[in-house]
Parts: sequence; structure tokens; C-alpha cells
Amino acid sequence: MLTLAPLDPLRIDAAAALFAAEYARLRAAVPGLPARFADPAAAAGLLAGMAGRALVALDRDRVAGYIAWWQSTNFRRTGRRAAYVPEWGHATRPEGRADIYRALYRAASAQWAAAGNQVHAISLLAHDDVAREAWFWNGFGLLVVDAVRACLPLSPAAPTSLTIRRATDADAPALAALDAEHVAHYAAPPIFMAPAAADTPDDLRAYLAGPRNTIWLAHAGDEPAGFMRFRGTDFDAVAILESDAAAFCDGLYVRPDNRGRGAARAMLAAALDHYAALGLTALYTNFESFNPEAAAFWTRHFRPVCFSLMRTPEAP
Ligand SMILES: CC(C)(COP(=O)(O)OP(=O)(O)OC[C@H]1O[C@@H](n2cnc3c(N)ncnc32)[C@H](O)[C@@H]1OP(=O)(O)O)[C@@H](O)C(=O)NCCC(=O)NCCS
Repeated sequence: MLTLAPLDPLRIDAAAALFAAEYARLRAAVPGLPARFADPAAAAGLLAGMAGRALVALDRDRVAGYIAWWQSTNFRRTGRRAAYVPEWGHATRPEGRADIYRALYRAASAQWAAAGNQVHAISLLAHDDVAREAWFWNGFGLLVVDAVRACLPLSPAAPTSLTIRRATDADAPALAALDAEHVAHYAAPPIFMAPAAADTPDDLRAYLAGPRNTIWLAHAGDEPAGFMRFRGTDFDAVAILESDAAAFCDGLYVRPDNRGRGAARAMLAAALDHYAALGLTALYTNFESFNPEAAAFWTRHFRPVCFSLMRTPEAP
């Protein structure tokens, strides 16, 4: 019989140990992931800051599972309030996992509804089929995939008839024109994301000035055909991926007329060579699972490490 209670500071270490054990299983499945969260102290440190937004499921006073969440007031630029459970914000013991997640969701969602949340969201470790099934049964569907790749050359090599080079400040106006097309892609069917503003030439020059940031350009003759860009720090990725030894791709676009000619693959190859020469060990990215082009491209080259799911309840 499970009882639900606020996550008491005295139980944080036991909860964090459950997450560290699950993360160790992900690291065994996907070698090369950062070590930080294999130590329970990492999740424990974050959970210490979640007072009032964390619950524990107890089985005869032992921690069977826990859930902790952030509160967002503008979830994915939709203007909606959401409760978001990060990947380190939940875990269960190995036995009876679906029952534990059901009990945690019942209790947490009551608090989320009382706080006026219109969206519920959660990130899961990608190896964890049991959690995925449990949250699918809880009404959740896939939204974002975080994925990784070791900084090793592409094999086979990446031939393309386009020219690939590293962008400089002088390319900012051309990159801004490409980015206007890029952001429009996400608002179109079947993606239907909330519209975003394109980067301006000033934004792009600021991006290029960031430490270890790069933008790669593909040209068809004199015409800019596409770009791929990487941040060297401050990734917009799940917490388990934070690392000084990686770079994060946060933009990729090839004009429709030039697709299927290996431009994206060749830009990825150039970035891999560049970051490997700097001593980095991995590249990361994330993408919406319902973006057909992204799902087709990234899953060829990268491995999922987190699946982020959401549910929009029908009644408040
Ligand atoms: C995703 C995107 C950048 C791919 O660009 P691309 O230059 O067409 O990709 P590539 O030509 O390098 O193709 C990569 C692979 O997909 C295949 N492919 C891509 N487009 C294809 C097409 N239209 N027909 C058949 N195969 C295609 C290629 O054969 C290649 O396979 P391989 O690696 O096994 O040889 C492009 O589709 C795009 O800009 N989409 C819109 C923006 C977007 O979704 N960006 C992703 C951001 S997360």
C-alpha cells in the first residue's frame, strides 16, 4: 500500500539514489554520457531546491518513488501554464513501477490542476521502456527527443555537390534570411508549433561571438542553401547532458530545392571534425518528434537519450 506525502528533505537522498540507479542504466546503454548524475548528489542537490513542488510515494516508510516539477507560465511560447517534470525529477524502485507512477501522477496532477496548469509534461530516460509505457497509459504523447553522438568522423564520408564552409560575421544577413525560412517550417503542418521570431543579423553575430559557437553554411554555387549551428556552452538541453566536453546543435535548415543532396550530412561532418579537433567528445541536439525531416535526419546519426512527453487534459 503506497502513501503519498510531500518530499521531506530527510528523504531526498533515498529519492536521488533511485534516479542515479536509473541513470546508470542509461549510461550502460549509451556509452559516453556525462558522469554527473550517476552520483546521487547531483539529483539530491536539485531536489533540495524543489520544496513545495515534490511528492514521494512511500511503501511502509520506504521511498518507492518520487516526482518533482517546475512551473512554467509560457510553455513552449504557447502562453499556457504547464507543470514540467524534468528527467531527474522522478524515479521509482524496480518493483511495481507502473503502479507507483500512477499513484504519483494522481497526487501531483491534483496539485497541478489546483495551480491552474493547462499542460502536463515530463522527460524520461530513453532506455526506460517501463516508464515510457506507464506515462503513455497516463495519457502522454511524445514531444521532444534529446539525442547524442560521439565526436567521431561520419562513416562513410559525406560527399555533396554543395560547398560547405564555416560562417563569419559577413554571412549574418544571408543567415538571417535562411533563418526566416527555418522558423516558418515549425509553424507549418504537420508540426504546428507556436510561431517564433527569426534571428536578426545582430542576433547571429552575437551567436557567432559565443565561446566555441559555430555556424556552418552550405552553398549551391553562389546561393546560400542551408546552415547548421552549434552552441559551445549554455545548451537548451536536458540537465543530464550538461558538459564542457560537448557542443549542442540548436539549428539546422536546408532550402527545399537543395534537400536530399547531402548538405546537412556534410555540415555535420565538418562540425564533427572541428569539435573533435578541439578535444570535444560528443555532439548533442534535440528536435520535435513530429517534425518529419528532423526525425528522419537526426535518428540516422544520433541516439536518443531523453524523450519528453506532454499531455493536455481535456478539463481544467
Ligand atoms: C533536416 C534537413 C536539414 C535535412 O537536410 P538535407 O540536406 O536534405 O539532408 P541530407 O541530404 O544530408 O540527407 C540526410 C539523409 O536523409 C536522406 N534524405 C534527405 N532528404 C531526402 C529526400 N528529400 N529524399 C530522399 N532522401 C532524403 C538522404 O538520402 C540522407 O541519407 P544518408 O545519410 O543515408 O545518405 C532538411 O530536411 C530541412 O531543412 N528540414 C526543415 C528544417 C528542419 O526540420 N530542421 C531540423 C531541425 S531540428
